[in-house]
Amino acid sequence: MSKQKEKRPMTRSHTLQSHLISPSDTNHLQTIFGGTVLAYIDEAAAIAAMRHSGKIVVTASVDSVDFHSSVKSGDLVNVEAWVAATGRTSMVVYVHVSVENPATEDTKTTTTSFVTMVAIDSSGNPTEVPGVFAETDAEREIIDMALSRKSGE
Ligand SMILES: CC(C)(COP(=O)(O)OP(=O)(O)OC[C@H]1O[C@@H](n2cnc3c(N)ncnc32)[C@H](O)[C@@H]1OP(=O)(O)O)[C@@H](O)C(=O)NCCC(=O)NCCS
Repeated sequence: MSKQKEKRPMTRSHTLQSHLISPSDTNHLQTIFGGTVLAYIDEAAAIAAMRHSGKIVVTASVDSVDFHSSVKSGDLVNVEAWVAATGRTSMVVYVHVSVENPATEDTKTTTTSFVTMVAIDSSGNPTEVPGVFAETDAEREIIDMALSRKSGE
């Protein structure tokens, strides 16, 4: 009988990092450098993939990045990441970046991204990762987005 692959809930990989944007993070238009946002995305995606797999991970590809609106100096930025799909050794991580108004708690999406992370064993080779499952409608939507992107490749 074949061994059933272990599956872990999406909540296990959920990662939230907050950043207060300073003038040194911004360009001559006083809006954030795209590269700074990419660094935030890469770090949050790596942490989410490490939480999901329990292993060391490397970035295989940044599959898509959409900059929806700009971020200014003084803004409070939240970067959230979840493992949304898995292969044998790879994990597709969905990253959602938003600006939060701390006075009203309103948030606005600024960037969304899909990143592929690969788990690595102690010899530096790709190693198997558990599957993932959703427990809420919001998580199911993220998985559907990840899968529809994969099938559209
Ligand atoms: C990513 C890496 C580990 C893949 O190694 P590899 O020898 O090609 O391994 P494999 O062909 O067995 O692929 C392993 C998995 O990675 C996936 N993968 C490989 N290259 C990929 C790419 N460019 N984009 C998305 N997934 C990729 C494969 O589809 C496979 O997934 P699966 O096991 O879920 O089916 C290797 O290319 C690497 O170490 N790259 C450098 C990573 C790095 O330094 N990142 C930091 C950026 S500066």
